[in-house]
Amino acid sequence: MVREAFELSPASVVEGKDGYDHFMLKEIHEQPEALRRTLNGYIKDGLVDLSDLEINELFDGIKKIYIVGCGTAYHAGLVGRRAIEKLAKIPVEIDIASEFCYRDIPWGTDELMIIISQSGETADTLAAMREAKKFGTRVLAVTNVVDSTIAREADKVIYTQAGPEVSIASTKAYTCQLAIMYLLAFNLAHQRGTWDEQELRQMGNDLVNMDLNIETALGQEPRIKKIAQRYYQVENTFFLGRGFDAAVAMEGALKLKETSYIHAEAYPTGELKHGPIALITEGVPVLTAITQESLVERSISNLKEIKARGGVIIAVCTENLKEECQVCDEIIPIPAVNPILTPIVTVVPLQLFAYYMAVTRGNNVDQPRNLTKAVTVE
Ligand code: AGP
Repeated sequence: MVREAFELSPASVVEGKDGYDHFMLKEIHEQPEALRRTLNGYIKDGLVDLSDLEINELFDGIKKIYIVGCGTAYHAGLVGRRAIEKLAKIPVEIDIASEFCYRDIPWGTDELMIIISQSGETADTLAAMREAKKFGTRVLAVTNVVDSTIAREADKVIYTQAGPEVSIASTKAYTCQLAIMYLLAFNLAHQRGTWDEQELRQMGNDLVNMDLNIETALGQEPRIKKIAQRYYQVENTFFLGRGFDAAVAMEGALKLKETSYIHAEAYPTGELKHGPIALITEGVPVLTAITQESLVERSISNLKEIKARGGVIIAVCTENLKEECQVCDEIIPIPAVNPILTPIVTVVPLQLFAYYMAVTRGNNVDQPRNLTKAVTVE
């Protein structure tokens, strides 16, 4: 059974902003509800059940997964890779769709491609999917738009239930894509017996409750607005993170770039010392996510290097790691959730930061220059 999903039609576009100044802000606030819809019916007693979708046979005997997408969808895939490899122990390769076709992949028969696309019409992503299909590779699409080209051409589809996303900067589609990545990882881990069942149940229940944690993170909006108003005139920023936080840092940087036109570079925290630290000078803001307890010590020592060079550190950190983050200039606390699930919450303050930086600079936040919602040219 395929559940009804959303079509981005002119009629739905004129739905209105529900009192918000911009669609982007409205869509950021819609995330708890979008997540509830996307997960609805797929978690029973904590365990994932995707039997309605009839996708299980797609994964039979799979020894390797390719995840492919562009922009925000690619960033959701980065989280998916970590979750699937950690929990289900299946090797995952991830690639940017526009580069995928230039590879000469020695395709095997036990491989699956997961294509992620909000619009389901992105030309680069479609081309990558068609390339894989030429070699008989099975394709599972994760998309938000029912009957889109990608949905039609894939072997199977899981729809995100984000609802129409009008703002060019993708927000709620990303958190819903993450939800699907977790559903797949939990499901595979359960089927293959690669992770303790009780822990999977706990994580499944935690995932169901993530809407509440997003709501708590949204409560940081006034603080984030003030921070943005302090730093909106900067021209260069860095976004750092380790592990799951590295993937979210990339999404945070993309949001800031496309809405505020501020140069934002994302790096895994450990990579900074291999070159980019040369660019850290007095007053350069460094946004960082600190949510992984096992990695915090190493990250803090990197942050001290930034501080010593005059960088301003703005940290989105889980409540349990606030003490460790005292070296930071600004702290945006988020709830301490299971470290595997943190990306769903960590991204929210970064989306709000990008939004307030952009509006404070007077930008057209819903329709930034040079961008379109679905990029239908290669
Ligand atoms: C995200 O904020 C961007 N506007 C963009 O990177 C987007 O995610 C990318 O073009 C992919 O689009 P899709 O998900 O519709 O394929």
